[in-house]
Amino acid sequence: MSRDRGEPGALKMAPSLLSADFGSLAQAVGEVANVADWLHVDVMDAHFVPNLTIGPPVVASLRKHSGLYFDCHLMMTDPGDYLEAFRDAGADGCTVHVEIGRTDELVDACRALGLRVGLAANPDTPFEAVEPYLHKVDVVLCMTVFPGFGGQAFMAEVLPKVSEVRRALDERGLEVDLEVDGGIDRNTAPRAAAAGANVFVAGSAIFGADRPWDATEEIRAAVLHAAGATRR
Ligand code: DX5
Ligand code: ZN
Repeated sequence: MSRDRGEPGALKMAPSLLSADFGSLAQAVGEVANVADWLHVDVMDAHFVPNLTIGPPVVASLRKHSGLYFDCHLMMTDPGDYLEAFRDAGADGCTVHVEIGRTDELVDACRALGLRVGLAANPDTPFEAVEPYLHKVDVVLCMTVFPGFGGQAFMAEVLPKVSEVRRALDERGLEVDLEVDGGIDRNTAPRAAAAGANVFVAGSAIFGADRPWDATEEIRAAVLHAAGATRR
C-alpha cells in the first residue's frame, strides 16, 4: 500500500539522506520526521553516476523507522531490474532518468507495480526530452546539479527549463509535482519556486545543519515568504 504523496503541486520539503550519517540513518529520519513531506532516497549505481549509495535492503530497514512517503531517486542505468525490489522494500515513488531511454517501458513498469512515477532530467537535458511524458508521470524532477554527489552549487541556468515544465503542466491541466534537486537551500529554493517548482530536495542544507528540523522549516519558510512577497 502506497503512502499519500500529498496534494499534487503543493509545497513539499524532501530532505535527502545523502548528506546524513550513513551509520545513523534511522536517527536522521527521526530528525526530520515531523517536518518532512517526503523522504528523498538517492540510489546511485556507480555506472549512471560515479558514486555508489543505497539499495533496497537499506530502504527496507528505513521503512521500519518511518511512515513518510519514500521518494526514491534512481540514478541507475538499469533501474528496471530493481523496481520490484524497491517497491517490496517500501518505496512509494521511483524516479528514473530520461537520459537512460526506455522511458515508456519503465514508466509502465512502475505503474504496474503500484509505484508513483517520476521522470528526472539532468541539467543539460532539454525540456523536449521530458515533454512527451508529462501526461504519464506523477513527478518531473529537474536536476539543479549534475547528479552523483551532495554539496554542489545550484545551477541557476536550469531555471528556464523549470519554468517551461511548469507552463506546460499548467496549460495541460496536469496534476504533476515539479521537483528540484541539487544545491537547494533557503536562498535558492525561493528562486526555484518562482520558476514553478513545488518539491524541494535538500541534502547538505538540512543534514549538514546542526538542527536538521529547523533547517527544513527555514527553507519552507523562505519559499512561503517569497511567494507572499510576489502576491503583494
Ligand atoms: C545528487 C542527489 C541529490 C543530493 C542533493 O546527485 O540527487 O539528491 O542529495 O544534495 P545537496 O542538497 O547537498 O545538493
Ligand atoms: Zn536526488
